[in-house]
Amino acid sequence: MGPGPGLAAALLALLLPVPVPVSARGPGAAACEVSPGGRFDCGPERLLSRAGCEARGCCYSPGPGPRSGPGPPWCFFPRGYRSYRAENLTATESGFSARLRREAAAFLPAAVDELRLELALETPARLRFTLRDAARPRYEVPLATPRVHGRAPATLYGLQVSQEPFGLVVCRQRGGTVLLNTTVAPLFFTDQFLQISTSLPSRFISGLGEHLTPLFLDTAWTRVTLWNRDMAPAPHVNLYGSHPFYLVMEDDGSAHGVFLLNSNAMDVLLQPSPALTWRTTGGILDFYIFLGPDPKSVVRQYLDVVGFPFMPPYWGLGFHLCRWGYSSTDITRQVVANMTAARFPLDVQWNDLDYADAKRDFTFNKKSFRDYPEMVRDFHSRGLRYIMIVDAGISSSGPPGTYKPFDEGLRRGVFIRNATGQPLIGKVWPGPTAFPDFTNPETHEWWHDMVKDFHEQVPFDGMWLDMNEPSNFVEGSQDGCPNNNLEHPPYVPGVFGGRLQAGTICASSQQYLSSHYNLHSLYGLTEAIASHNALLRVRGKRPFIISRSTFAGHGRYAGHWTGDVGSDWQQLYYSIPEVLLFNLFGVPLVGADICGFLGDTSEELCVRWTQLGAFYPFMRNHNDHGTRPQEPFAFSPPAQAAMRNALRLRYSLLPFLYTLFHRALSAGQTVARPLFLEFPTDPNTWAVDRQLLWGGGLLITPVLEAGQTKVSGYFPAGTWYSLTGDSTIHSKGQWILLPVPLDTINVHVRAGHILPLQEPAFSTAQSRGKGMALVVALTPDGFARGELFWDDGESWETFERGDYTELLFLASSDAAVLSQLLRASAHLDGVLLEAVTVLGVTSPPRRVLANGAIVSDFSYRSDTQVLRVPVALPMWEQFVISWS
Ligand code: GLC
Repeated sequence: MGPGPGLAAALLALLLPVPVPVSARGPGAAACEVSPGGRFDCGPERLLSRAGCEARGCCYSPGPGPRSGPGPPWCFFPRGYRSYRAENLTATESGFSARLRREAAAFLPAAVDELRLELALETPARLRFTLRDAARPRYEVPLATPRVHGRAPATLYGLQVSQEPFGLVVCRQRGGTVLLNTTVAPLFFTDQFLQISTSLPSRFISGLGEHLTPLFLDTAWTRVTLWNRDMAPAPHVNLYGSHPFYLVMEDDGSAHGVFLLNSNAMDVLLQPSPALTWRTTGGILDFYIFLGPDPKSVVRQYLDVVGFPFMPPYWGLGFHLCRWGYSSTDITRQVVANMTAARFPLDVQWNDLDYADAKRDFTFNKKSFRDYPEMVRDFHSRGLRYIMIVDAGISSSGPPGTYKPFDEGLRRGVFIRNATGQPLIGKVWPGPTAFPDFTNPETHEWWHDMVKDFHEQVPFDGMWLDMNEPSNFVEGSQDGCPNNNLEHPPYVPGVFGGRLQAGTICASSQQYLSSHYNLHSLYGLTEAIASHNALLRVRGKRPFIISRSTFAGHGRYAGHWTGDVGSDWQQLYYSIPEVLLFNLFGVPLVGADICGFLGDTSEELCVRWTQLGAFYPFMRNHNDHGTRPQEPFAFSPPAQAAMRNALRLRYSLLPFLYTLFHRALSAGQTVARPLFLEFPTDPNTWAVDRQLLWGGGLLITPVLEAGQTKVSGYFPAGTWYSLTGDSTIHSKGQWILLPVPLDTINVHVRAGHILPLQEPAFSTAQSRGKGMALVVALTPDGFARGELFWDDGESWETFERGDYTELLFLASSDAAVLSQLLRASAHLDGVLLEAVTVLGVTSPPRRVLANGAIVSDFSYRSDTQVLRVPVALPMWEQFVISWS
């Protein structure tokens, strides 16, 4: 139950002991008795001496550890440190509001004296609270979030407000677990430094991307920095994307999530008590709290706010091949020919910068790529698709009249401006470049026109958005940056390079909606939106976009690849938590460059990476220029055979994968899924990030180290069948050692699931017409269920328009599998169900019937308990297969 009508008074439960008086020489000894792991840093922006510390009214206690860097701060806030006082708590239509008055001197400039707190009980499981400057509007992230009227009648959460110092406590209505408690440290709200802390109910916290990190973060003094940055993935540095959302697993397996809707450069600090501090450099504090209570619901509740993922075209789930260095159409054509000759599936051929004339967007090299349009049309005639790179920077150095994107962009005023109002010029691959401002509606029109012009010449199928953090090879601009507060804020988060301009453009450059300082981390998202809309208008089909830079809400428009990963085993491992985290962020279409991008791969690494990559929702092999070739055909026959198996396995599973994407679009589910989402009450699963699930039913246990012949995987309690049907694991919830010859990746089906499969082919254009099969994994009492979503694979909004087929498959304890047609369209017509494999049939059947007709050529093995039933049934009609 949330606060009722007469809530204002009831809310004023004072949680904290009375504020501790602070003397001129610092707070009293009692207020400084804080365990080291629970100390909140009183010198966020610089190291303080004892005198400097005490002048802030803070406690000084030199520790054994370093003064800076990870470890308890030497200068920390006493308990009850004054900051803001809450007044005028008033019930509103959706919750309540209050005025917060500043009570203490703030030690950073431009403190805001009066804040307005608004708290809305938006849904039974979601609450939102905002803290704004009461006197003047500030920048807010231009993300459309749900508008909610009224107050959720009964809620999973309870609330308390501490009046002085102000703090908010959110607990679970049932059990009372405190999920958020901002009274643990003072609130700061200055123009460029906003800080709020909370205790955490457990140290199992995940999220806060994008970083090279295990699935769960380390709460032993970790600083997590968010500020989009072109950076070869390495631990502990800010990378290409910002997702200020975290999920915490509570002791009993419940979960909650917190989203700070703020796009400024920020740090999030984790400390062992456990607790978390948000430090952001601008905007407002706009928090959503999601109460789950299970982790899947937390993800869905988060996606209710930022948007459900887009539906990729079916071909986008096939295999993509790319490299930097396919320097001509001849070479690109040869690559495709080699793939065909070596009998590898391929759906999408890509080109990197090589196609472009002097590396400029929307041009092509008239010598080495003279037959570029014909090449793309040839690919199309073979059922392949084609994608090329598009960089964010627009070349600005040519004489007027020589490069339309720049001339037109200049004329239409689409570029980000410097302090003097001129287009800011940086330097990227083509040399001097201007940067389109995708927060300007005119830029979207201009971008559309450029995409359209180019598409009329080269009928490409999707866009690869790169360098869109935006990346800049000179710091700030060719002329440097002005010296002002936006370039040098009083608090600089732990960004790589130490300055906001490092690797990008000046923070104080001007965009249509606000300063780049505020909008920086939205660059990739806004470009993805413009590209999505442009592609839709130009092609009239479902857009396919992969972008390096991302922000919360990105998955509605585009996918992501994890950037310039090295060709090494460690990066192979890290790709699993990256893929899983992006699924939690609502960007399910994600993958790493298979075999690694930077440096030479090795044959063994590339085989293992291809096996894992077959289970990335987005599967692309991409390589740096000048490094060892790593296309599947570049290796020895046994390595090729292993890669071919992996690719064929993926292609056979595409109907299942496509259906998972449909569930992402329609229900906010994840595609690649961490184990803890399915098994939240088994804490052994929480930190598992060397395995992944597809949906709830398929467990992948890859090899992540060199020279392995066995791999250990965690199998949650239950029955798991190998997909091939040759072995079964009855697990009590345990680690199991599995054999892994080089040609093998372990894939297990969870009892209770039915997977739709299709005979693989050399592209999805071919495979979509092939025979289908079902793998039915029975629970010990004989149940299983599954589904199939099918449409034409590329039309816009088929689900929204009802132009699809949806089948439900059920297996029951009376020894039968049946399909139910939930919705029918013509798209499945002609596709036959050709095989049904039932796993876990405990006694040998004597008779098998398909739609009442006897099947005489079924097979059954009592050692593996697998029943195989060959059939030829129309997939577009309901069927029953039974055995007795
Ligand atoms: C960036 C991209 C990489 C690409 C290269 C050249 O480093 O991350 O994928 O190959 O630029 O365009």
